Amino acid sequence: MSLPHRVRLVEVGPRDGLQNEKRPIDVGDKVRLIDDLGQAGLSYIEAGSFVSPKWVPQMAGSGEVFAAIERLPGRVYAALTPNVQGLEAALAAGADEVAVFAAASEAFSQRNINCSIADSLLRFAPLIAQATARGVRVRGYVSCVLGCPYDGEVPVAQVASVARELFAMGCYEISLGDTIGVGTPGQTRALFSAVARDIPRERLAGHFHDTYGQALANIYAGLLEGIAVFDSSVAGLGGCPYAKGASGNVASEDVIYLLEGLGIHSGVDLQRLIAAGERICRVLGRENGSQVARARLAAG
Ligand code: HMG
Ligand code: MG
Repeated sequence: MSLPHRVRLVEVGPRDGLQNEKRPIDVGDKVRLIDDLGQAGLSYIEAGSFVSPKWVPQMAGSGEVFAAIERLPGRVYAALTPNVQGLEAALAAGADEVAVFAAASEAFSQRNINCSIADSLLRFAPLIAQATARGVRVRGYVSCVLGCPYDGEVPVAQVASVARELFAMGCYEISLGDTIGVGTPGQTRALFSAVARDIPRERLAGHFHDTYGQALANIYAGLLEGIAVFDSSVAGLGGCPYAKGASGNVASEDVIYLLEGLGIHSGVDLQRLIAAGERICRVLGRENGSQVARARLAAG
């Protein structure tokens, strides 16, 4: 299989990246980040989530964020929604698209959304139906596809089954999430290849956290499997508050550098992206998690 000519990045920094930050972040700083990302050429930005503020306090201001961002043409500003209540809030805030999130492991489903996998799918059904009826597309995440912090190994068949169900329910794209970043390229290829028996490859995406430093290699493995959509987070921010030990997502800057090296088009301006990442890292008082950004900034 040849490599794709074009890749779409789903920028999850403002959501997956910031949800785990302990200190409150001003709405203005979140808005600035999203605007910077849009201006850097990211065409799909997950700008926030409409979940219980008791579960993820950092995302409580997502409505205000959506109200204040600059809507650049050709960009999708999406939100994560766990139930109909979240969908209604997301649509009231003006989200262009929403995403539901299921897990491939029972323990993570319970910890993250307080219900079994089967119950979560039942909960998503009316959400997907209502969104679709209103012309809003729904993306589907499956978490813990290459390992679970509580259950350990996760059978590929279990991942394939949850992915298949979400797709059959109407999700237009299924993002397979290595939530705790334990997977390796061989496993990644095998996983995409197995899930692609039920779901066309152009409807699959990869979401790799970089805990074990395998994320870029896993993306390359995904490219070799014909996958052309990857989730990433500017400056490598991120982690799930309900996945013990989960570190940041793969850094968007590092993915762009990889893609440029392969001659794969993404429409993203790497320099502007680096500047966006550096700015939010200063706000957060964090070291930049992108190796490419660190190298370029050190080179001056
Ligand atoms: P629950 O406590 O079982 O919910 O939580 P409930 O339906 O029993 O409601 C309890 C209270 O929550 C009620 O308020 C509801 O109104 C409120 P009260 O009457 O007690 O004042 N509530 C809400 N409030 C605002 N927005 C909502 C909402 N729904 C209920 N949408 C629930 C169940 C799913 C809500 C909760 O567990 C939750 O919000 N979980 C979200 C956890 C989360 O956001 N995790 C991080 C994102 S997932 C991730 O990072 C993985 C990913 O990146 C992929 C990967 O890496 O693998 C996507
Ligand atoms: Mg994630």
